[in-house]
Amino acid sequence: MLAAVASLPQQHKQPSRITIRGERRSDVAAREALLNAAFGPGRFAKSSERLREGRVPARGLAFTAVDGKRLIGTVRLWSVTAGNAKGCLLLGPLAVVSDVRSLGVGAGLMWRALREAKRRGYRAVLLVGDPAYYQRFGFSAENTGALLMPGPYERDRLLAREFVPGTLAGARGMISADRPRPPRFAGIFDSVVGGRIPIAQPV
Ligand SMILES: CC(C)(COP(=O)(O)OP(=O)(O)OC[C@H]1O[C@@H](n2cnc3c(N)ncnc32)[C@H](O)[C@@H]1OP(=O)(O)O)[C@@H](O)C(=O)NCCC(=O)NCCS
Repeated sequence: MLAAVASLPQQHKQPSRITIRGERRSDVAAREALLNAAFGPGRFAKSSERLREGRVPARGLAFTAVDGKRLIGTVRLWSVTAGNAKGCLLLGPLAVVSDVRSLGVGAGLMWRALREAKRRGYRAVLLVGDPAYYQRFGFSAENTGALLMPGPYERDRLLAREFVPGTLAGARGMISADRPRPPRFAGIFDSVVGGRIPIAQPV
């Protein structure tokens, strides 16, 4: 039986010279500079970072906003399990450079990310952020009361939006990072070399 999925708007208006595309490796320096400017050094102390460190974003779910060649925005999503609810994503960080804010770039990144997450079959998206900003994208704390982040956070800022209604109903416990399975031959290689080389980890 097909599960009911919540609908998302197909288009979001933003200035025509600005485009949103999949993140590229060459974005890294400008993306990190933007995140440092937006969040400062405290960005690595956030509880969300415990679910991101040492990992790559979920496949096809990191986006960059550009104005010509200039990187002006970023959003990334990470595969997680929310208590016992599988097929979830953690969204963040989301940031837009300060001189182009309030033009809809943040919203453009959000809608693009949510559409693609839904298309890829994910069931719900979670984040830690300001309800006043994220409620316009359908996020609320309604279903997150029994979930826990791995570190300090403000409960009313742990928000979620379901694509498949009921995904988070009854979900309780720690939100944890989904680890990709080790490469197929990693175990064999590991035993051949005496188990001293760690099984491949995501970068
Ligand atoms: C949050 C952010 C990504 C929004 O980007 P943006 O391109 O300006 O977003 P949009 O143009 O789609 O929306 C802007 C509107 O959201 C409002 N807004 C921005 N941040 C908000 C917040 N934390 N709470 C409530 N409203 C907020 C703006 O006031 C603006 O309102 P207006 O349309 O009435 O002028 C950007 O402000 C940013 O990078 N902030 C610093 C990093 C950050 O806080 N990231 C989010 C983590 S919670």
